[in-house]
Amino acid sequence: MTEPAIRVSDVTKIFPTPFRRRRIVALQHLNLEIAPGEIYGLLGPNGSGKSTTLKIILGLIQPTRGSVRVFGRDNSTVAVRRDIGFLPENAYFHKFLTGTETLRFHARLSGLGSRESKSRIAELLETVGLTRAADARLSTYSKGMLQRIGLAQALIHRPKILVLDEPTAAVDPAGSRDIQNLIASSKKTGTTILLSSHLLTQVQEVCDRIGILHRGKLIREGRLEDLLAIENQTEFIVENTTPEFLDQLERQIASVNGRVVLRRKPQTSLEQLFLKVTETRDE
Ligand SMILES: Nc1ncnc2c1ncn2[C@@H]1O[C@H](COP(=O)(O)OP(=O)(O)OP(=O)(O)O)[C@@H](O)[C@H]1O
Ligand SMILES: [Mg+2]
Repeated sequence: MTEPAIRVSDVTKIFPTPFRRRRIVALQHLNLEIAPGEIYGLLGPNGSGKSTTLKIILGLIQPTRGSVRVFGRDNSTVAVRRDIGFLPENAYFHKFLTGTETLRFHARLSGLGSRESKSRIAELLETVGLTRAADARLSTYSKGMLQRIGLAQALIHRPKILVLDEPTAAVDPAGSRDIQNLIASSKKTGTTILLSSHLLTQVQEVCDRIGILHRGKLIREGRLEDLLAIENQTEFIVENTTPEFLDQLERQIASVNGRVVLRRKPQTSLEQLFLKVTETRDE
C-alpha cells in the first residue's frame, strides 16, 4: 500500500487560556488520511478547528497529543516543509512590494535560482491572472487579487502538497471559479490538495473527498457522491420530449408503485447565472 500524503493520527489540541480553569479543546482525537493526488476539503463552522488542523499538519503549532506524518515522514523535518505550499487564512503581505517582487521574495526563500525563478514567476502570474498587475504594489490590489498572489506564492516551489486555508474567501464568483480551475489543474500534475472552506458549493465542485469538523471532532467523512446520494431515488434530466410522453412515463412509474417526487424545469444556480451575466470582465 502506498503511504498517504498526509496522515493525522489521533490528534488532540488543547489551547491553554489565561484563566486557569478554562482551556479550549480545539481538536479531539482527529484522524485523517489523504492519499497522494487527492483533493480533500475540510469543512466546518467558524471555530470548529479547521485552521488549527492545517497549522498542525504544517508543523506551525504542535499537537497536545497525537502525530502527523507527511509521505511517511515526521512533519518537523525541513524536507517535508519543502514539499508543502501553504496559503494561510489571513496571508500577510508586504504591501509596498509589487506582485513580481513578492513572488521573487518567496522564490528566494524557497531556494530557487534567479534564472529559474524568473520564468517560474512569469508563468505563475499568468496562471493566477495577474500578469497585467505584476508591477503594481500590493497596496493597490483587491482582496481577490491578494488571494491570487497568495496562491501563486504557495505554488512557487512546485510543492507536492498544497494546503489552502479558505482559498476563495473574499473572492468574487469569477475569481473563485479561476481559483477552482487552478486547483483542478494542480491536481492534474499530481499535487495533493488539502483545503478548508465553508463555501459548500465550491467544495462540492472541486473536492474528491470531504470531512466535516464540528467542535473539534470529525463528524462525517467520505466521498461526495456517497455522502450526498439519496439511495432510493434516481434523477433524470431529459431534453426534447413531449409533455404527453412524460405523463405516460409518470403513469408507468406509478404502475410499479414508484412515485415521481419532483418534475420541473432544471434550474441554473445563482452562481451560474451571476457568472453568465458578468462574463465580460476587464481583469
Ligand atoms: N492560538 C490560539 N489560542 C487559543 N485558542 C485558539 C488559538 N487558535 C485557535 N484557537 C481556538 O481554537 C478553536 C478552533 O479555531 P480554528 O481557528 O481552528 O477554527 P476554524 O475552523 O479555522 O474557524 P474559522 O472558520 O473561523 O476560520 C476556536 O475556539 C479558537 O478560538
Ligand atoms: Mg480558520
